[in-house]
Amino acid sequence: LLYLLGALLFGYLLGSVPFGLILTRMAGLGDVRKIGSGNIGATNVLRTGRKGLAVATLLGDALKGTLAVAVAAQWGAQFAIVAALGAFLGHLFPVWLKFKGGKGVATFIGVLIGLKPLAALIFAAIWLGMAFAFRYSSLSALIASAATPVVLWLLGEPVMAGMAVILVALLWWKHSENISRLLAGTEGKIGQKG
Ligand code: G3P
Repeated sequence: LLYLLGALLFGYLLGSVPFGLILTRMAGLGDVRKIGSGNIGATNVLRTGRKGLAVATLLGDALKGTLAVAVAAQWGAQFAIVAALGAFLGHLFPVWLKFKGGKGVATFIGVLIGLKPLAALIFAAIWLGMAFAFRYSSLSALIASAATPVVLWLLGEPVMAGMAVILVALLWWKHSENISRLLAGTEGKIGQKG
């Protein structure tokens, strides 16, 4: 049990590195939390108009999850799943930002890449299809994430599917303002500045 807690903490520490905040600060853009949705994720970094920084944020926030899973997998399959949970919690609730972190989409796909690449591919396909059709980052993430536990279960990974249910519940909860805006028709579309 102590080792599992160690994997959770290891994942948490990696996950709590807020790439969006760090990269926009390094680029001299000020605090990304003061623009658009106020989020620290790639979608909101894109609202600064800097596509490269948004892509770097997406990669950083995703790959920290992949790295946490890949390292913990060396200790055993159950450690990988616990590290995935830790990385996701670290991104959502980073101690460095008084526990006010991101919404988890990039880190969700990152841990999926580490745990089950095919599920990550299916997530990306659904996300892209939804984004192409409706141009809302949040809606794409909500639908793609909701499908993921089912996808994992169908791929013969019931434990991962169970863990994913927790992640999806947290992801949806973190998107509650987005959901209200989507229902009200006021959600910003991808790339719209704010
Ligand atoms: O990745 C987060 C995305 O789903 C919504 O981001 O900035 O529009 O709240 P944002």
